Amino acid sequence: MKFLISSKSPESVVDEAVVIPIYSEIKPQKSLSKPLQQALSSGDFKAEANQLFSFYPESEFKAKRVIYISLGKESEVTLESIRRAFHSVQKKLNSVKVKSFAVALPKTKFSESDVARAIAESLMLSNYAFDKYKSEEKEQSTRFSQVTFLASPSIQKSLDRAVIVCNSTNMVRDLVNENSKDKNALILESFARKLAKECRLKITVLTEKDMKKLGMNLILAVSSGSPIPPRLIFLEYHGNAKSKDVYALVGKGIGFDSGGLNLKPTGYMETMRTDMAGAATVFGILRTAAELKLNINLVGVAPLCENVVSGFSFKPGDVFTAYNGKTVEIGNTDAEGRLILADALSYTVKKYNPTLTIDLATLTGACVVALGERIAGVMGNNDDAIKNVVQSGKDVGEHLHELPLFADYNDSMKGTRSDLNNISSNKGDGGAITGGLFLQNFVDKKPWVHIDMAGPAYMKTEYHYVGPNATGFALRTIIKFFETK
Ligand code: BES
Ligand code: ZN
Ligand code: ZN
Repeated sequence: MKFLISSKSPESVVDEAVVIPIYSEIKPQKSLSKPLQQALSSGDFKAEANQLFSFYPESEFKAKRVIYISLGKESEVTLESIRRAFHSVQKKLNSVKVKSFAVALPKTKFSESDVARAIAESLMLSNYAFDKYKSEEKEQSTRFSQVTFLASPSIQKSLDRAVIVCNSTNMVRDLVNENSKDKNALILESFARKLAKECRLKITVLTEKDMKKLGMNLILAVSSGSPIPPRLIFLEYHGNAKSKDVYALVGKGIGFDSGGLNLKPTGYMETMRTDMAGAATVFGILRTAAELKLNINLVGVAPLCENVVSGFSFKPGDVFTAYNGKTVEIGNTDAEGRLILADALSYTVKKYNPTLTIDLATLTGACVVALGERIAGVMGNNDDAIKNVVQSGKDVGEHLHELPLFADYNDSMKGTRSDLNNISSNKGDGGAITGGLFLQNFVDKKPWVHIDMAGPAYMKTEYHYVGPNATGFALRTIIKFFETK
């Protein structure tokens, strides 16, 4: 996508279309263009949020089409309502096969830069389509590719940031949407190596042999049914040589989750290629941080393997010793995400001693039941960090809600022959919470936030400017979190 800036007025800009934001309070007065006056006074166009009114101008505009987009009530406008309105714009313009258009910025209580960034992000995320496997309609190739902002040159930096963030988000979406067979641990390792080279990140890869030596028996157990060996990837970004602070991001990277011997039934397995969304998001965040040159030090960690079935599969009831020495009985092979994260978290905490560790995982169906598919669950042992993550989400239009790490539920996570069981023995315990409680055993009481994004990482249908399919959820939230550090 190409973003340009022009000082031209909406009336004088020459383009395939010019988009002009308005508010619901607009009155049909003389200063407005005639068609808009008529549409308003006749009541044909009520200028409700996200509604469009378009026409082919005769002489008062130089652009081929004029499109008014309502942002809703002026008193209620938010950056999110602007993003949502521009999703309507994206749909309209692509439906008429416009390739290039200009957009005027609305007057709001936000800075011009923030408004421009919101519009740019909405357009870039809306315009994404995963059409690789469609033989006829290649959606992306017919979509617009140039937008001219009618604004002051001072918004340039904001536009540049939007492009970086959205290209990375769309990269994550490509990875998550990809076939399972094309993103096994070895393929994702190559991807990470290429990314490291392009973004000048330090990369370290632990192989199956390394894991055996280190005693990472939980990752090894999950991976044991697959002919493809597991990997544990570390990508380091050093953006602040003066600081000793390191932030760690750990992402669940299950290339396919069949459930293992506790096989998932039909209806629950078909989207399980997306079970590596956490790891993909970690890759995307590292890429974004490097390109934005964020003033922080980051390590991105991705335990990668698949949970499939063979004669070598790990068995329910067996006990394995984790990297940190705790023993875990397998109550259910489908609760595999917490197992690979456990080894990855305890190794990361020990090796890097991070200021804060954030894990991102499509961890539990229970979280989707608790909060619905559009809201992620957040848990952790550091109230400030949780609050800031939730607020960063609000700022970028991603929804996260805190769930309590209710300690009483620990009682039902004990093993009969081991320290821990990977599932709760009590069906009445909240499944998202017990998932979080399990992970808590592997962070050595160091500052940690757990994001269960089983719901919002993937949408079956369109959801404003993200979806259908992979959404790239949490990348923008975490980048916002670091931008405000
Ligand atoms: N990958 C799933 C969770 C999931 C469910 C992600 C729906 C995206 C959409 C996870 O590994 C899983 O299967 N969890 C089990 C845990 C249970 C066995 C304790 C679940 O949620 O049913
Ligand atoms: Zn599972
Ligand atoms: Zn899973």
